Amino acid sequence: MSTPSILVLNGPNLSRLGRREPAIYGHRTLQDINRDLAAGFPDVTFDFFQSEDEGAIIEKLYGFEDGGSRTGVVLNAGALTHYSIALRDAIAAVSVPVVEVHLSNVHAREEFRRTSVISAVCLGVVGGFGEESYRLGVRALLAHAAGGGRQ
Ligand code: DQA
Repeated sequence: MSTPSILVLNGPNLSRLGRREPAIYGHRTLQDINRDLAAGFPDVTFDFFQSEDEGAIIEKLYGFEDGGSRTGVVLNAGALTHYSIALRDAIAAVSVPVVEVHLSNVHAREEFRRTSVISAVCLGVVGGFGEESYRLGVRALLAHAAGGGRQ
């Protein structure tokens, strides 16, 4: 099998991890999380991207798919999760599998966070496990690529 290729895509305000509401999101930066994720999966080729901009995220998703044979995307869309029909349509438009992840348990927080407009077009959803959510997302994509999990 060729080297797995995974895009870790983070949306608005995740650039502020470490400083942003640490009681909810912890003290580690996105750079810390990305570095440890890559170290934990030495056989995976990672592409890391974060933007505050919905359009840039959508363009990155298309660019990743267009780049060739891809294993999948681990996506923490931040608040876009709850309202971005444009992002939902972009996920539906690509054939590369996307796993929705969240650091926090969005179902245990404000009511508006319980709605995700992207879940239905994602392979699955992982949330509430802090940075472990990203690792679980990667594992789910690798299992899917190997023929396991949901088809
Ligand atoms: C988040 C949850 C979202 O509701 C929020 O808007 C975020 C982060 C999470 O990782 O827990 O920005 O996606």
